[in-house]
Amino acid sequence: MTTIIPISEMTTTNPSEPAPRPRGCTFTETDWRTLAPFWYPVAFSHEITSKPYAATLLDVRVVVYRLSDGSLAAARDICYHRGVPLSLGHVEGDEIICKYHGLRYDRDGRCTCIPAHPNGSISPKLRLDVFAVTEQYGLVWVRLVDDGPRPFPVLEEWGSSDYLNVLPDSVTINAAAGRQVEGFLDVSHFAFVHAESFGEADNPVVPDYPVTKTAAGFIADYVSTVSNYSHEYKHLNPPGFLWRRRFEVYLPFNAKLTVFFPEGGQLQILNAASPVSARKTRLFVPVCRNFDKDAPLQTTLDFNHQVFAEDIAIVEQQFPEDLPIDLHAEAHFGADRSSIAYRKGLAALGLGQNYTT
Ligand code: FES
Ligand SMILES: [Fe+2]
Repeated sequence: MTTIIPISEMTTTNPSEPAPRPRGCTFTETDWRTLAPFWYPVAFSHEITSKPYAATLLDVRVVVYRLSDGSLAAARDICYHRGVPLSLGHVEGDEIICKYHGLRYDRDGRCTCIPAHPNGSISPKLRLDVFAVTEQYGLVWVRLVDDGPRPFPVLEEWGSSDYLNVLPDSVTINAAAGRQVEGFLDVSHFAFVHAESFGEADNPVVPDYPVTKTAAGFIADYVSTVSNYSHEYKHLNPPGFLWRRRFEVYLPFNAKLTVFFPEGGQLQILNAASPVSARKTRLFVPVCRNFDKDAPLQTTLDFNHQVFAEDIAIVEQQFPEDLPIDLHAEAHFGADRSSIAYRKGLAALGLGQNYTT
């Protein structure tokens, strides 16, 4: 298991200056500044090598790469000499080298060499916008603005010898991250959207459930008779078993679901939605469980894929595309307690009215 670098050790290049909002940004100024300080996954750990990797987060082009000591570096994907993406370059030791004129930048983003003038002075403008980066749960996480500690989703079972880790492929969704996360928290769609996978078409009723605020967001603790087995394995469901699903939300776009299976089994699913832009999301879903550890992994991957594909078919069609945070914008009923808490939580972060269309 990797260790989170203490936030105090991670800084942007110029922490006192407001980070430049990207050109063509699809978020409003307020929304972008509200979202930028949070942690988001931008890649799988195994995708990041000494070959620079290009990602996009909140419309910002980001380059991530691995230095010779195995540590990670992340920066805005631009060389301020002539605007070439650093992701076209390569890494040597702990330096990234621009493809165009060979300028070298160290792990702090400082330019260390201009090959055309090896003995000349180096303009302080030749400095990368460095971002904080860390690895957790098989993913590489970046934050664009470091304004102090921000909550990081907790999946403590990842890496435990009692649990099997599963890392499904990510999926790119043409929808707002907020819409996707809210759908993950929704408990009244199982009988309709998931009737083919695990839902029960004749069991749509949603019992009351509590929602409790936490420092990072809230917890929704939902108990019902809807099992989490796929239809193929429904025979394993003990008669009368009550299925508990605990959603722990880490605002704005991470949510951990624990499904409590019979005989102490637990399935942990981290829904980590990475906002590429206001209307595009790359979804990572690390999963771990303490049962069926020898069962074929492909069965789990297939089931996971099916359930998320059922959700995506809905979320890509929702309108307006951005999540309406104003509670008067859409109608609600009792089962929507989790999504109401989610919208209120996003509003409290500062997204406010601007996050509607
Ligand atoms: S554009 Fe990067 S070195 Fe010239
Ligand atoms: Fe769903």
